[in-house]
Amino acid sequence: MKLLAVESSCDDTAAAVLVDGEVRSNIVVSQDQVHHEYGGVVPELASRSHVRAITPTIERALDAAAVSLDELDGVAATCGPGLVGSLLVGLCAAKAIAFVRGLPFVGVNHLEGHLLSVQLERAVPFPYLALLVSGGHTSLYLAEALGQYRVLGITRDDAAGEAFDKVAKILGLGYPGGRVIDQLARQGDPLAIRFPRARLKSTRATRPFDFSFSGIKTAVWLYVRDHGAAPPMHPNIAASFQEAVVDMLLDTTFAAAQQLDVGRLVIAGGVSANSRLRERALADGSVLGLEVVIPSLQYCTDNAAMIGLVGAHRLARGERDPLSLNASATLELG
Ligand code: KG4
Ligand code: ZN
Repeated sequence: MKLLAVESSCDDTAAAVLVDGEVRSNIVVSQDQVHHEYGGVVPELASRSHVRAITPTIERALDAAAVSLDELDGVAATCGPGLVGSLLVGLCAAKAIAFVRGLPFVGVNHLEGHLLSVQLERAVPFPYLALLVSGGHTSLYLAEALGQYRVLGITRDDAAGEAFDKVAKILGLGYPGGRVIDQLARQGDPLAIRFPRARLKSTRATRPFDFSFSGIKTAVWLYVRDHGAAPPMHPNIAASFQEAVVDMLLDTTFAAAQQLDVGRLVIAGGVSANSRLRERALADGSVLGLEVVIPSLQYCTDNAAMIGLVGAHRLARGERDPLSLNASATLELG
């Protein structure tokens, strides 16, 4: 099956071609330069950039895979969650191709794409715990089978990636902040500043493995207000902040693995590109007897290959979505 997949939920315009479930091309056009000076994604600018980039990105993906529109057997596109103006661009482009060519079409949940992204590189058997850490989401799932995901915890406030982006803004490092902080932290001391780690109690209103990242962001802001943030201090602030985020993510996730007696953990989403998180998850996980699997960097951040993988499974099962399918900013998973 030759499948075209499109992803435009936030600030990356992406298209991929999968042939029999194998990635033949995976093109991502980043808007980092567009949003850099604002310290965050500006939704209107994101939509406009997607409009400009979508057709050339799809053409590049088809060319790189040496697959023509005539040869396609199906089309998949992200239909949520995300910025609605951004989602609509990729979704409408994909639906238009499906309509004109009379091809089967499926809309894909972006979060499911992240949860399965690791399967692009190796078969990871279910069940597994899946920690999804991105700019918009921080959630812990139990992935029981394809299409069956149980939510174990979510962030009660900021997403982990959002905290990276906001701290980068506080330090004047621009957007997106995760990669810059990751690089800067390599020259810093993670024990230099003891930022607080939020430990949440389970209540009737919350899930047992919820996260919170607004406190750490405020703690960094207060530290910078009181001590300044002249560039020589940046590496220590970055390393200490990053260590606190990694501690919070892994403490909760490992507690869930032990409580649910699950032996496998997948980490996905943009923040899973973080070198310290990857290093600590693999090392600490092996001490606990937990198999930890993290996608290679190209599949951690937003991409259309992961959307294609979910789309290919759904099309193969005979599932179809109507071309009236709308984008949903708040689409949930599990
Ligand atoms: O999954 P993604 O590409 O888009 C969303 O669905 O949100 O994730 C983007 C997020 C941004 O917040 C970015 O700062 C963060 O992932 N990120 C990182 C790293 N690379 C990207 N955070 C920490 N360390 C990194 N190396
Ligand atoms: Zn994402």
